[in-house]
This record gives sequence, structure tokens and C-alpha cells, in this order.
Amino acid sequence: MILQRVKPLARILAEGRNERSGLKRSLGPWALTAMGIGAIIGTGIFVFTGVASATRSGPSITISFVVAGIVSALAALCYAEVSSKIPISGSAYTYTYATWGEFLAWIVGWGLVLEYALGASTVSVGWSGFFTNILNVWGFALPVAWTHSHWDPTPGIANIPAAVIVFILTALLIRGTKESSTVNAVIVAIKVAIVLFFIAVGIGHINSAYYHLPPGPQSGLGGYFPFGITGMLGGAAFCFFAYIGFDAVSTAAEEAKNPARDLPFGIIASLIICTLLFIVVVAILNGMVPFYKLNVADPVAFAMNYVGLPWASVIISFGALAGLTTVMLVMMFGQSRIFFSMSRDGLIPPAFTRLHPAWHTPWISQLIFGLLIAAGGAFFPISILGSLTNMGTLAAFVLTSAAVPVLRLRHPELQSDFKVPFGPYAIPTLSAIAALFLMYFLKVGNPYVWGFPLVWLGFLVWFTIGLLFYFSYGRRMSTVALQEAEGVAIVQPRVN
Ligand code: ALA
Repeated sequence: MILQRVKPLARILAEGRNERSGLKRSLGPWALTAMGIGAIIGTGIFVFTGVASATRSGPSITISFVVAGIVSALAALCYAEVSSKIPISGSAYTYTYATWGEFLAWIVGWGLVLEYALGASTVSVGWSGFFTNILNVWGFALPVAWTHSHWDPTPGIANIPAAVIVFILTALLIRGTKESSTVNAVIVAIKVAIVLFFIAVGIGHINSAYYHLPPGPQSGLGGYFPFGITGMLGGAAFCFFAYIGFDAVSTAAEEAKNPARDLPFGIIASLIICTLLFIVVVAILNGMVPFYKLNVADPVAFAMNYVGLPWASVIISFGALAGLTTVMLVMMFGQSRIFFSMSRDGLIPPAFTRLHPAWHTPWISQLIFGLLIAAGGAFFPISILGSLTNMGTLAAFVLTSAAVPVLRLRHPELQSDFKVPFGPYAIPTLSAIAALFLMYFLKVGNPYVWGFPLVWLGFLVWFTIGLLFYFSYGRRMSTVALQEAEGVAIVQPRVN
């Protein structure tokens, strides 16, 4: 049976202990929360809010953020329980391997490439938008042809700043520049300060008429829901990108002082703080500018220019650049960690576990992904990149939610300081349904090909390639398969 090839939990936990035994468990609850905020605040709030307001939600973007926040909170509860029981850095991929088996773990790992690698491409396009804004304000306009992809609303040839920042970060990651938690905390503080600055300055420039514009060619049906409830839900599905990152806390599991207690805290606290900030920011943004003008790469800076405060727009652009850079670092680092785990399990070729002789980094993996991520940022528009990232992440949420009841039933002995409330089924089921619901509404505002939403098509093509790869390589080469072939019994031992 295809779902029977489960990786024994005892082995997963032992591998985690061996591989990282030299690492210091130095991250406490607040350092983990800072890491979560560092991964969460980025392109979603600084960029997507504009596109989503202009093309999907209008002023009801505030409700879109509440909806996406609820979906994320349900998933966060599940991540909190599972990561505190299996504190191993492979995140959703590892949880699925231990519960639903190799096949679905492969699907999750393959989907996480969309989350991490394509997510980094998405952020690189946002980075380029703010970089270009700063140069514009200083009077150095870069040619449109070299700051936009062919498929952008303003078409160009390639987004060169997006590719360049990816190359620079790839070089840093290969060289082994690992952010210390202090550096991370400083940049997180800058990011939060920029968000608070936007709130403090913007709140004085709200024109409440913008929340209820009359109907018209630009403002659709007008009012608070200019594109109806469907538009608002489409906005939620798209802006869900803003919340991605709280799950990245789980990848630091092996560096947490007390993972069973601190991981749930870090995941949930970072999500609550960011949700509150996001809702206030989008409400103010839509009060500063008529929503239909917000289809730009740097809406929070644009809003400041719009109300006649270019100096504030430059401050925000600098803060956003710093903030987006760390999101990209976390994503590109996370990608290599997940492929490292998959390669260690034999599901992808061993090159991805090969470390650089001097710098001890997975340089081949980092280089290959650096090229792919740069190509994504250079040649594709932010909306399609972001939508596909959301699809991959939501797919991982579905399976992580499903891991909660399986772990409780199969491993009642696993202790955790955090359990999802209301028993093993209610929240995980709601969470999985909520994630599927957002996947469905991602079709809103996305282009259609042959009568099919492009984002669904892209997702299907990606998974078809993944399935072909699994059945031609991973299924035969996985370490669990090789042990099966040698007659080692694959049974689930108890872990004490
Ligand atoms: N949540 C992260 C961002 O918005 C991925 O950039």
C-alpha cells in the first residue's frame, strides 16, 4: 500500500539529535517569536495589500485579512502541537513522513518548494519595487524594460534588481553567513518600527469617503465590497501570503531551549502580533488612497507619496528593503534545509546533502535554487508567483493539520506542553477545510487558461512533475525503501 511506508518516529528523532548535536539550544520563547515576526512581515503586507485592494477586495481588504488570519491561526494551532511533539527541522515534510508516510511526505516536500523557493522569488519582486522607488525619489529612474517582467501590468523584459538581490543572498548563504539571533532581532525591530511608523503617520491622513466610493468604471460596484463577497474572499486567498512564515519557527526546532513549550509560544505569539498589525495597516492604507489606485509594487510607500509625504515614503522603503531581505534569507535557508532532509532520506539525489569543504554549507543546493529563484523573480509577475506560493503552503497546512489526530492516536506517549483545544479532530478538520477553501478562492483575480485558473494549472503541472520524479527515483532510492528491500521491518516503535 502506497501510504504504508512510514518513517519510524524513533529514527526521525534520533537523526535530529545526531545531526545537530553540536548546536546550542539557545533560542527562548521571545527569540522564537522574533524569528516568526521576521519571517512573517514582508511582501504580503508591504506589497500584496495594494494589488489585492485594487483588483479583488477594495476597502473590504480588512475583512480579507481577518479571514486569512483565521485560516492561519487554525493551522498555527496544529503546527504548534505537531512541532512540539516532533521538534525536527524538516517541518511539515517530516511530520507527514512520520504520520501519513513517504508518498504524502514527498507531496508536502515538493509543495514546500513552492512555499520557500517561489516565495523567495515573490519577495524578490517586492524588494525590487521598493528599491526602484528609492532610486526614483532620488532621480535615478531605472528603465521599465529592466525592472518588469514580460507578464507584468506594465510589461518589460526582465526584473533585473530582483535577480541581483537573489544572487547576492545566494552568495551570502553559500559563504555561510548565518544570521545571529541578535541581528535578526534588530532587523525585526526595524520592521515593526516601520509598520508602527506607517500607522502613526497614516492615521492622520484618512479620508473616510474612500471606504464607500460611488460605483464607477474604476471603483466597480462601489461601497465597502466593490467586487462583492467573492472578491473579498479572493483577496483573503491572495493576502494569505502575508501570514506565511509562522511555520518557519518550527524549522528552528533543534535550536530551541525548550521546544515542547517554546515552539507553540513562538508560533502563536508571532501570528497574533502580526495579525493585529496587519489589520490596522490595511484599514489605514485604504483610507489614505482610493483602492483602485493601489495596483503598484510599493503601495505603503505610494500612499505616503499620495498624501504628499515623500520623505515618509523613503523611510518606509528603506525599512521595507531591510525587512524583505531577511524574509528572503529565511526562505532561501529554509528551502535548502528541507531539500537537505529530503536528500538525506534518499528521495532526491545526494548532491543536495553535499556540503562545501570549507564553508560547510549545502552549496550545490543553494546554487541551483539561487538560479531558479532568480529566474522566477526576473521573468514572472508577483501575482502569479505569490498565488502559487500560497497553493503550496496551503497544501502543506492541510497535511500538517491531518498529522495531529494521527500522532495522538499512534503515539499517545508523546508529551507536549501544547495540545490543540477541543480534542484531536475538531480544530484539525476545520483547519484543513479552511486551507482548501482558500485554495479554491485563489482562482479569483487570476488569469484563466483553457477555462482553468492559471494558478490551479500551475499547481497541477508542478505536482505532475513531482509525481513523475517520485515514481522514477524517490520510490526506489529512499532509505526507507532500501531498508524494506533488505528486510528491515518498518514498524512504528514506541518513543519514550
Ligand atoms: N509573509 C512573508 C511575506 O509577506 C512571506 O513576505
